[in-house]
Amino acid sequence: MIPRILSSTGREITVPGDKSLSHRSVLFSVLSKGTSHVSGFLEAEDPLNTMKAFTQLGLKVEKISKGEYVFTSPGKNSLQSPKSVLDFGNAGTGIRLSAGLLCGISGVKATLTGDHSLQKRPMSRIIKPLNSMGASISGKEDKAPLEILGKKLADFHYKSPIASAQVKSCLMLAAMASETSLEYEEDILSRDHTENMFRFLGNKLTYLSPTHFKMEPPYTFEAKEFKVPGDISSAAFFLVLGVLLKEGSVLVKNVGLNPSRIGILHALEAMGAKILVHNQRIECGEPVGDLEAVSSNLRFSEIKEEWIPSLIDEIPILTIAGLFAKGGFIIRHAEELRAKESDRISAMVENLRNLGITVHEYPDGYEIPEIGSSVYSSELSSWLSGNAVNIFTKMDHRIAMSFMIVQAVSGLKVHLDETSWIETSFPGFESLLEGFVQ
Ligand code: S3P
Repeated sequence: MIPRILSSTGREITVPGDKSLSHRSVLFSVLSKGTSHVSGFLEAEDPLNTMKAFTQLGLKVEKISKGEYVFTSPGKNSLQSPKSVLDFGNAGTGIRLSAGLLCGISGVKATLTGDHSLQKRPMSRIIKPLNSMGASISGKEDKAPLEILGKKLADFHYKSPIASAQVKSCLMLAAMASETSLEYEEDILSRDHTENMFRFLGNKLTYLSPTHFKMEPPYTFEAKEFKVPGDISSAAFFLVLGVLLKEGSVLVKNVGLNPSRIGILHALEAMGAKILVHNQRIECGEPVGDLEAVSSNLRFSEIKEEWIPSLIDEIPILTIAGLFAKGGFIIRHAEELRAKESDRISAMVENLRNLGITVHEYPDGYEIPEIGSSVYSSELSSWLSGNAVNIFTKMDHRIAMSFMIVQAVSGLKVHLDETSWIETSFPGFESLLEGFVQ
């Protein structure tokens, strides 16, 4: 087994605000005429880029204190065409959700783009259904930069071939902006923050099943106060660290616990992890609580297909937990991982192999046998003897952070080619982690 050397007694931490909710707090503030107040906003590159983009359309932003902002919108019908290209950096959520909103604002003309990684990610998943609503949106080979001319859109019924909250939210925001109706179906529920915020602002959704709903105008957008809890996707790195401690526990306070986001808790618990939930409450229509991860012995457990959308962003760090599980680790039905900030299946497989670990790659996942001394290859032995292994992070924050957790819990050395991507979602990750290893 890979050694576990890190101990920690009763450490309490907080993690930065939820990325999904931070993006949405900007977009709903843009739709709401007047002043919205947001606290806990994630001051990381991704949501800050969304905020900055909408200042170019007329959103006024006043920073009150760390994570606390007042957004004043002229109202959706008074947004102006931006003078320059809107740059969403690394953020798929930023560009896809903003594209939906802008397609529904009559007369607004905009070009939306992002960094090298974002320009490679698939946009046909939003372009096709938006075009079917009558939107004017296009991109060369269906990739960013995206050219948009906002219009009045048509009522629309969409059965999505993928469980994607980005696609769902894009179409919902298009319908909201254009005051048209939308009926939306997906096979497995993807994160439902947009639905929750929509209701929190006083609107109604009619459910035909748990994954099939209708929304109909008139919509109401009364500027409100949004409280953003800590991001479970960021907490996940320290929950896995807590579970992999040699002894002790870690308490992560104030974490969003939306049921469509907590697949990581179900998967870790099925693997034998002890994670306690304290102080559960509802804030701004979203469940929130404190999570205590206790040092545990892990074992193989199937990661169920229906959990995949609710733990899609956590698969890299869940895999790291799996390296320490008796019986190994398998992830399947996760082809969507290939369309993230990097192709996360190939990034994980390549980097695990660099560590000397035997990995079998599938089109939709990968399999790792139990790591016992019998399967140590010569590379893993040299890694164990103290040579740093090169990790290629592929412009992907979650790949970088996952391998830094391996190093922290086992003391084994990795050398990451670049770590600046961590700033897209988790500023302060490295210093928080250093606090555990010193
Ligand atoms: C997100 C949805 C997910 C997730 C992404 C954030 C969101 O993407 O991977 O990090 O905020 O809506 P998909 O909906 O495309 O799976």
